[in-house]
Amino acid sequence: MRVLGISGSLRRDSYNTKLLQAAGEIVEQHGGEFQLFDGLKAIPPYDEDDEIGYGPRAVVRLKRAIAKADAVLFATPEYNSSIPGVLKNGVDWASRPLAANPLRNKPVAVIGASTGMFGGVWAQAELRKVLGATGARVTEVELAVGHAHEHLDDAGHPIDPAQAESLRDSVEMLVAELQPLEMAA
Ligand SMILES: Cc1cc2nc3c(=O)[nH]c(=O)nc-3n(C[C@H](O)[C@H](O)[C@H](O)COP(=O)(O)O)c2cc1C
Repeated sequence: MRVLGISGSLRRDSYNTKLLQAAGEIVEQHGGEFQLFDGLKAIPPYDEDDEIGYGPRAVVRLKRAIAKADAVLFATPEYNSSIPGVLKNGVDWASRPLAANPLRNKPVAVIGASTGMFGGVWAQAELRKVLGATGARVTEVELAVGHAHEHLDDAGHPIDPAQAESLRDSVEMLVAELQPLEMAA
């Protein structure tokens, strides 16, 4: 079982990237492999004219990473009540061509953290909607860590036991989506 983590933040000390790393530990405790995608910044702005062959190298890298994974866990910040542009841009590229895109039928889940009070719930809701439009199987998990600077430790673990439990539940629900597929394989 391979889970790919994609953070919507490029920031070195990103709370969302750290939250994903904490989620990755839970994946590994379940015997899975966790990989963090680190190539979002290299992806050019979407341009249909650049969809020649397999497209730009950085896009191929993203699409291959998604295709290789059994599931994708997104952690996104919220910028102006919505999805950060770099993440939306990456998902737009990954969604092409729509009928055969690597997100189609892929189990995905969205969690996130922000320094605001509500933890980026609007960005998360929008990302779930966008992922649904690509054909991904969006797992109904919810974890929005507000005031992330106070509620995550240095390694991205939620300090509040209820949120730590919620992170574990989120990962376990995503992993549970895979079990029928793995049994059928
Ligand atoms: C352009 C911009 C817009 C932001 N808008 C919001 C917002 O709408 N809601 C919110 O909760 N936080 C907002 N924030 C604060 C982010 O939650 C905060 O920068 C957070 O640390 C970003 O996540 P990261 O630590 O993973 O980079 C905004 C930050 C930036 C840079």
